[in-house]
Amino acid sequence: MPARNPLHIGLSLSPTWLSGEAWRRADSGVENLFETAFYVDIARRAEAAKLDFVFRPDTLYLDRAALEKGPGFASLDPTILLAAIATETTHIGLLTTASTTFYPPFLIARQLLSLDRISQGRAGWNVVTALDGHDNFGLDKMPSTDERYARASEAVEAVKRLWQSFPNEALALDRERGLFADPQRVHPIDFEGDFYQIAGPLNLPARDGARIPIVQAGASDRGRDFAASVADAVFAATPDREAAIELRSDLRRRAEVSGRGADAVRILPGLSLFLADSRQEAEDLFTETHARIDTTRKLASIAEMTGLDLKHWPEDRRIEAGDLPPPPATVRSRTHSDLLRRLIARDEPRLADLLERPEVIGSAHWRIVGTPEDAYREIADWAAADAIDGFVAVPGGSTGSMHQFLSDLVPRLAQAGLCRTDYSGTCFADHLGLRG
Ligand SMILES: Cc1cc2nc3c(=O)[nH]c(=O)nc-3n(C[C@H](O)[C@H](O)[C@H](O)COP(=O)(O)O)c2cc1C
Repeated sequence: MPARNPLHIGLSLSPTWLSGEAWRRADSGVENLFETAFYVDIARRAEAAKLDFVFRPDTLYLDRAALEKGPGFASLDPTILLAAIATETTHIGLLTTASTTFYPPFLIARQLLSLDRISQGRAGWNVVTALDGHDNFGLDKMPSTDERYARASEAVEAVKRLWQSFPNEALALDRERGLFADPQRVHPIDFEGDFYQIAGPLNLPARDGARIPIVQAGASDRGRDFAASVADAVFAATPDREAAIELRSDLRRRAEVSGRGADAVRILPGLSLFLADSRQEAEDLFTETHARIDTTRKLASIAEMTGLDLKHWPEDRRIEAGDLPPPPATVRSRTHSDLLRRLIARDEPRLADLLERPEVIGSAHWRIVGTPEDAYREIADWAAADAIDGFVAVPGGSTGSMHQFLSDLVPRLAQAGLCRTDYSGTCFADHLGLRG
């Protein structure tokens, strides 16, 4: 099962390169964080580098306490932002995030199809079941993981049927006969599920041609089955190569079992990049970014994910598998909880080391701190080990680090034949190899 060639590369517009202390740098541009131009500039650079897509993760709540030290997920609406970017770019895929826990399928179908039309076939949907935000939607608590995935499965099915309910061919636009559209070719969907009852049809005609790619994030057992059954790609959290190899081979197996074929799902881990001209500078960048370690928040996050209370843990005592309480019955993300428990069982870290790990500070993403050449070698190594089909860059440290990803690292990967040197199509589906 060789890794894909070319690799599929996306860039998160989160913007992770302003996380930690980085937004305080003189050149961070943080004043423009809620302006379209800030993102259009980056999307154009990403398009010049021939990336598959730019991507906007999203949440529907505000962590007020975290706001003191950084923007977190305070942001423009992702789909509206990407629609603005669509008008300023021509080829790059536009991957938005819409939560099936909170958004009704009709609204998702319409928003995504609108983005697809506005961008002429470049929309993609990152399906999330969300981590928090229930109290913004009239719910007492977050629904269980099982319920969230059951809802997600229904929602994806309903959205796909809505996309098909008003085909473009139904438009007659026959001036002579005065026939705008043929109603016989527009169909209700009469969807009757456990969570949704939707009559349809959608009030917007589909585009002809490429379909809208579906991406998923969340890799618990339930999440993997869901991804295997519907996703074209998975935005994954894999802090080390073995985790990526395991996830990729397991998802390929599950996709085969679900009848879609092993190649149907592409594994794209998040890749946190701290890049500079020398290794020392890159390490300094990483250290500066994390200078104000918020230990209290990290300890709370470790406790939420594992049930382990490390508030009074002795500095020199290793944390071992035997210290872990049984897995908590409910966690925000089983994926992140499992990765952290696995790290503790495998590495038996001391507390100071644990607080530095991507599983604790970086959403469990693969992390490279070094020169673009260092990053190129490690990516080539992961590709050769069949660990990835591409990655989603989440550059950190500074605007310079993000620019260096696009101006130095991507061309280096292209030079080595690991990613494309030009676009071969105009739709997001073309970039992912979903057509022909
Ligand atoms: C890598 C990764 C990225 C995610 N991104 C988002 C996001 O942008 N917005 C969101 O609401 N949830 C996000 N989630 C949460 C998932 O959609 C899911 O609700 C959560 O991980 C629970 O599923 P799990 O137990 O399978 O991990 C993400 C999860 C993972 C693993």
